[in-house]
Amino acid sequence: MKASEFLAEHELYFGHGTDNPYSEAQWLVVAVLTQQGMKKISPDTSISAATQQFIENLLRRRVEDKIPMAYLLNEAWFAGHCFYVDERVLVPRSPFAELIDNAFEPLVIDPPATILDLCCGSGCIGISCALAFPDSEVLLTDNSREAIAVANINIQRFDLGSRVSTAESDLFKAVSGNFDLIVSNPPYVSRDEYQALPREHHHEPEAGLVCGHEGLGLPLQIFAQADEFLNQNGLLILETGYSWQALEVATPEIHKLWLDFEFGGEGVCAVSAKSLSNQA
Ligand SMILES: C[S@@+](CC[C@H](N)C(=O)[O-])C[C@H]1O[C@@H](n2cnc3c(N)ncnc32)[C@H](O)[C@@H]1O
Repeated sequence: MKASEFLAEHELYFGHGTDNPYSEAQWLVVAVLTQQGMKKISPDTSISAATQQFIENLLRRRVEDKIPMAYLLNEAWFAGHCFYVDERVLVPRSPFAELIDNAFEPLVIDPPATILDLCCGSGCIGISCALAFPDSEVLLTDNSREAIAVANINIQRFDLGSRVSTAESDLFKAVSGNFDLIVSNPPYVSRDEYQALPREHHHEPEAGLVCGHEGLGLPLQIFAQADEFLNQNGLLILETGYSWQALEVATPEIHKLWLDFEFGGEGVCAVSAKSLSNQA
């Protein structure tokens, strides 16, 4: 039976890198062959019996244990780049990818020289920013030592050690200096919402998803502190997913531009340093 048919006949949640069984099957086969060193892959590529067995084992773990494919393959594609991932970090899937693909235009006119990725996880957002802005210096922070270890793997993977660094930090606590751009995809899921999520999400670090105060705790802290760490013309771009309406109600005094996405996603806002400094 074809891998895609096998995936389609089981009850699975797709949303950790693909949104359908066909794309996921294609990713699986191409990733396994690529990781084995194969350079050219076409529909006629023959697959050895050992590789077929290996793929079947991954498929079995996917359907029985509901492990996201990204963890089984130790890779996730984000903004056109292939990141190393494992269960120490969330699987990258943020709509930030679309913003980075467009170099944040028209929000950002001059390329940012200094960028902070707060709550970086695998580092996918900050590292993709570093690749989009080749003259920038980027700091990646997270309060999880394990996430920082994965982010460091990705810095090496993209050979960015000369201008991308990491710091273990509870939000801004260990951060110093000012930035032209702060990007952040913090946890914003309430505990009740987390309990209701498909099993796939429960393979991800809970601290990467769940956030107190009905999911608003960290976004509110970021709004309260970001101003201190932004340059005068700096910009904060913050993802709060479907908590965005509650955040808007909680912070009417902050002028936010809620962004539209062509390829899906919601709840990402841009806020200027000026608007943050005008808070009551
Ligand atoms: C939603 S994940 C996002 C990861 C990554 N930016 C991405 O888009 O895939 C949130 C991250 O925030 C981190 N985190 C949670 N609470 C934090 C805190 N108080 N300070 C810093 N990082 C925190 C988690 O460890 C997790 O890696």
